[in-house]
Amino acid sequence: QMRNALNKLADSVKDEQLRFQFENQLDSFFSLFRRYLVEKSSGSTLEWEKIKSPNPNEVVDYNVISQQPENVTNLSKLAVLKLNGGLGTSMGCVGPKSVIEVRDGNTFLDLSVRQIEHLNRQYDSDVPLLLMNSFNTDKDTEHLIKKYSANRIRIRSFNQSKFPRVYKDSMLPVPTTINDPLDAWYPPGHGDLFESLHASGELDALIAQGREILFVSNGDNLGATVDLKILNHMLETGAEYIMELTDKTRADVKGGTLINYDGQVRLLEVAQVPKEHIDEFKNIRKFKNFNTNNLWINLKAIKRLIESSALQMEIIPNGKTIVRNGHEINVLQLETACGAAIRHFEGAHGVVVPRSRFLPVKTCSDLLLVKSDLFYLQHGALKLDPTRFGPNPLIKLGSHFKKVSNFNSRISHIPKIVELDHLTITGNVFLGKDVTLRGTVIIVCSDGQRIDIPNGSILENVVITGNLQI
Ligand code: UTP
Repeated sequence: QMRNALNKLADSVKDEQLRFQFENQLDSFFSLFRRYLVEKSSGSTLEWEKIKSPNPNEVVDYNVISQQPENVTNLSKLAVLKLNGGLGTSMGCVGPKSVIEVRDGNTFLDLSVRQIEHLNRQYDSDVPLLLMNSFNTDKDTEHLIKKYSANRIRIRSFNQSKFPRVYKDSMLPVPTTINDPLDAWYPPGHGDLFESLHASGELDALIAQGREILFVSNGDNLGATVDLKILNHMLETGAEYIMELTDKTRADVKGGTLINYDGQVRLLEVAQVPKEHIDEFKNIRKFKNFNTNNLWINLKAIKRLIESSALQMEIIPNGKTIVRNGHEINVLQLETACGAAIRHFEGAHGVVVPRSRFLPVKTCSDLLLVKSDLFYLQHGALKLDPTRFGPNPLIKLGSHFKKVSNFNSRISHIPKIVELDHLTITGNVFLGKDVTLRGTVIIVCSDGQRIDIPNGSILENVVITGNLQI
């Protein structure tokens, strides 16, 4: 039934070239869907007893690697890719997440471009920047990167696949023609990178240019700069895949971790952990570090694995709702993550890197951090203020700060936080200009009230509730 429905969907495309591409995508979707049904019925899950900590050679410390020399000529073998298919919806933005302004009028994308431009200027290299967009982000991204056409950087973009969502009850595709509305489709997660890179022709083009390694990272991770030591280590060891890991703190117990399973390095995600073992998974002593999604991948290995259809990443089913004729309908989208591909690559291993290489912005609390004086901007990269002592402050902003627009109006001037350890703000709160926060600051405004923190305030180890100060 699914096959018939997909054939009909393909028939809705009249242009031959377009139809050929669309059919290929539908074929990929169909094999993902079939694999999902098979795995669901066989109930194939990991056997917890077989999960072991990785061997010492499977997780290397960055300090060991950093003893090695930096070989600048290796840059001719490198290409950088930013994952740019995601929207800024979780932060209340309509467009791509990468066009959110982060620092001094620069968006995530501007900062990524500046990082690579600087690298090429510094080492007289020609490292290309690739952007993997989705049908949700390609137009806005193209518009934004136009301004770089005269700059010293080669930016290439390609689109990831556009897969049909599936009705949860009938398990049939939501769209019936290629022109169906956008909410009938989805980009199938960043695991789609391998197939889309290959299908777009960019993979072959990179290999033809003599590029050997692709450095992949999330578009919102401003700490993911090109590191010559890791590049050198990758080339020296001949590893086909390196995953940068960083030590877990209690704030990131949910991140995927590397394990040894049946003698193979694998990524274990929280979604794969049986309920009774969740606490064990979150234990930061047993599973010490987690995936930053900074990945170094050998291009020829990608080609080999894609062309032999060997890349089978764990399927992440993601339930959504769409509205049709005024009714909410449950739909399903099947996604994959590129970290899960690790087990297919030869010599794959993890490198435990300093936390500074993992600076993601998932919420406005993270945005406050990266906009603050805790960091300074150096050629598009965020560097920690050297006077900072200890880990980054823990910042929790309530629902009034969920959308970037609300965040900007409530905190129009970013407070000084170099000496802050913990900040919680909930409710109808506005910060004035030149505010300094130190130690632990908690501001809780009850419903129906408003708290204004006056210009120039210095708050140190205080709890503020309503008009009451303790
Ligand atoms: P996610 O939305 O997956 O964030 O996007 P996450 O859940 O924090 O990340 P992981 O899965 O733990 O790593 C991560 C990056 O991947 C891109 C987003 O734009 C973002 O840069 N992405 C996500 C794609 O390019 N395509 C997708 O289909 C999904």
